[in-house]
Amino acid sequence: MLLHTIKEVREKRQEWKGLKVGLVPTMGALHAGHLSLIKKAKETCDKVIVSVFVNPIQFGPAEDFDKYPRTLEKDYELCTKEGVDIVFAPSPNEMYGAGQKLSNDTLTYVCPPFFYVNKLCGKTRTGHFDGVCTVVLKLFNIAQPDFAFFGQKDAQQAVIIKKMVKDLNVPVEVIQCPIVREESGLALSSRNKYLTEEGRKEALVLSKILNNIKSCYKKGITDIDALKETAYGFLNEKHDLEYLEILNKNTLEEQEKADDDSIALIACRVENVRLIDNMYLGG
Ligand code: PAJ
Repeated sequence: MLLHTIKEVREKRQEWKGLKVGLVPTMGALHAGHLSLIKKAKETCDKVIVSVFVNPIQFGPAEDFDKYPRTLEKDYELCTKEGVDIVFAPSPNEMYGAGQKLSNDTLTYVCPPFFYVNKLCGKTRTGHFDGVCTVVLKLFNIAQPDFAFFGQKDAQQAVIIKKMVKDLNVPVEVIQCPIVREESGLALSSRNKYLTEEGRKEALVLSKILNNIKSCYKKGITDIDALKETAYGFLNEKHDLEYLEILNKNTLEEQEKADDDSIALIACRVENVRLIDNMYLGG
């Protein structure tokens, strides 16, 4: 069922007292990555809610909020096929109030700690994780799920949400699901739609760099700078590298040496499309 209002979701949730409810928060334009979270939710829970909401407050002024793909009809169809119980697709007015100015001057925001935000994507996307945490906590309060499902694709986001849940005693269990990739290695992303055929090939540079770092680590290289330097052999003028980091996968702390708890994370622009990817070095 497709619901657009908070009231309707709350009413349904009331009817499901005693059942295990799972929430999969998304911004729509669903692909197999999202569907893997939905499948996991279906396995784990009695009832599954998928939210589809392009959240204005997590986009910077120069980012792609307006052009972000919106494909609700198709998303709803895919969710129905997967046996999703509710697709919750609110409008910005429903979520933030009609005529409400969307700023932390007027709205209550959830601000994750600086340590987690002042690195990786947070460095260039100022305020992004405030917007993410705010909307995710609102969705938790609306849907009151027992379980919530997030992808490792957005590794920093998943770490920050787990931290928020712990610090604010939110009664939800966060389940993280692995990255779904195309056969080529390209991590699925709604933003891949912005790439040309040629760009999709160039975008393979992210997974190639990560795979190579992992194989170097497996061969015994643990020096972080040495591992990072292996990337340069893959990069050319079509790739605009934003960051490449190797950190502790649970805490996002810097490490003296890479170990089995390390994660390599990369952000790189291809055809001016900002792409991110990451890989655990252990396992
Ligand atoms: P969105 O980019 O739509 O992603 C929704 C969820 O799908 C996230 O948890 C993301 O990590 C996961 N996901 C995306 N691509 C994936 C892939 N290739 N493999 C596995 N999981 C993948 O992330 C957001 O939306 C928003 O920030 C949101 C949490 C909904 C808050 O607005």
